[in-house]
Amino acid sequence: MYNIALIPGDGIGPEIIREGKKAVEAVSKIFAIDINWIEFPFGAEHYLRTGESLPGSALKEIEDMDAIYFGAIGDPRIKPGVLEKEILLKIRFYFDQYINLRPIRLYKGVPCPLKDKNPEDINFYVVRENTEDFYIGIGGRFKARANQDHLEVLRKLYIAKIQVDFNLEQEEEMAYQIGLISRPGSQRVIKYAFELAKKKNLKKVTSVDKANVLTHIYGLWRDIFEEVSSQYPDIETEFNFVDAITMFFIQRPEWYRVVVTPNMFGDIITDLAAMIQGGLGIAAGGNINPEGVSMFEPVHGSAPDIAGKNISNPTATILSGAMMLDHLGEIKAARAIEDAVEKVLSEGKVRSHDLGGNSSTMEVGDEVVRKLERSKY
Ligand code: NAD
Ligand code: IPM
Ligand code: MN
Repeated sequence: MYNIALIPGDGIGPEIIREGKKAVEAVSKIFAIDINWIEFPFGAEHYLRTGESLPGSALKEIEDMDAIYFGAIGDPRIKPGVLEKEILLKIRFYFDQYINLRPIRLYKGVPCPLKDKNPEDINFYVVRENTEDFYIGIGGRFKARANQDHLEVLRKLYIAKIQVDFNLEQEEEMAYQIGLISRPGSQRVIKYAFELAKKKNLKKVTSVDKANVLTHIYGLWRDIFEEVSSQYPDIETEFNFVDAITMFFIQRPEWYRVVVTPNMFGDIITDLAAMIQGGLGIAAGGNINPEGVSMFEPVHGSAPDIAGKNISNPTATILSGAMMLDHLGEIKAARAIEDAVEKVLSEGKVRSHDLGGNSSTMEVGDEVVRKLERSKY
């Protein structure tokens, strides 16, 4: 029996997770998998009502569970960053989910915005580092005169170098935020990317950085990529600067097999990559700690612009559920969900709004379940 923590969250979170859970339950029936769902109320409503974001007691409770299935977080009534940091990032950091695995796959029948690109052209993995870089949360925001300590830090870090004429009397407001890359933090995620390439027989790993400007942190990242890659002589390697890779994703997505990237660039390029696979409504992901509790969630957010209209596409969440089953070792069940999704997408009879159809969130989920139930295993 698997104990799965269920966190629907905000906006479209509850409606998409409902369909995801439905698909996981349907496939569990077929393959005799026993799942015990433990639902948590965390998100905007709970926060506004109680002032509580995500208590330590819940994290402790989840420590003994097998995985987390997550919808989305974020609400326009709450300042950006509060729930994102106090719920989503807190979970990623607490469970040290150092890999954010985001497969990019154009399924048959899905409209692709790129001219002349087909399913065989868009099929690769982005392995995003998930615990470092600019996500560590170290920084400050202040008026120059208000805090001498901050001022000193800032002086040391930037001001001296770029020779800004600094006037205490001006009380100019300032902010800084530090990015951090560590040797062990990069090693483990880059190694994971190479192991993934090996396991899937993909012969190339591309490293993303901005080592031409942010020479300190991404210089270290590069060095470590080179060290790790030397242990995999059969796998081709290359470096792409992050600005260039956004262009290459559009121009020649067929080039890529496994892309490994620091955290923030990974965030940005996976929204772009999601679009070339048909949109955020399809893009699935997993926050993985191979030795701990992992969390599966779509790449997209809470989509407040369409929340409550029952028009969101639950496919990304359903596919994230398949990734969760795969991670738990239920390979056949995971495969079955992906096959069912693939059938629904390629038939196109039931199609969500983001893909140009007019089916509701629930109709898409129901159709996936129908396909699962009609398949022979
Ligand atoms: P978003 O991903 O929520 O939405 C971007 C656009 O894509 C919107 O137009 C939305 O309608 C559309 N979209 C997203 N998912 C869709 C789906 N399943 N079906 C159809 N259309 C879909 O990004 P945003 O608008 O920049 O952010 C909204 C909130 O979500 C913010 O509070 C943000 O911080 C948060 N966020 C959370 C997560 C997460 O929980 N993992 C991820 C990204 C953003
Ligand atoms: C994502 C999201 C998150 C991120 C935010 C909401 C913290 O954009 O999962 O891609 O930046 O990682
Ligand atoms: Mn993102």
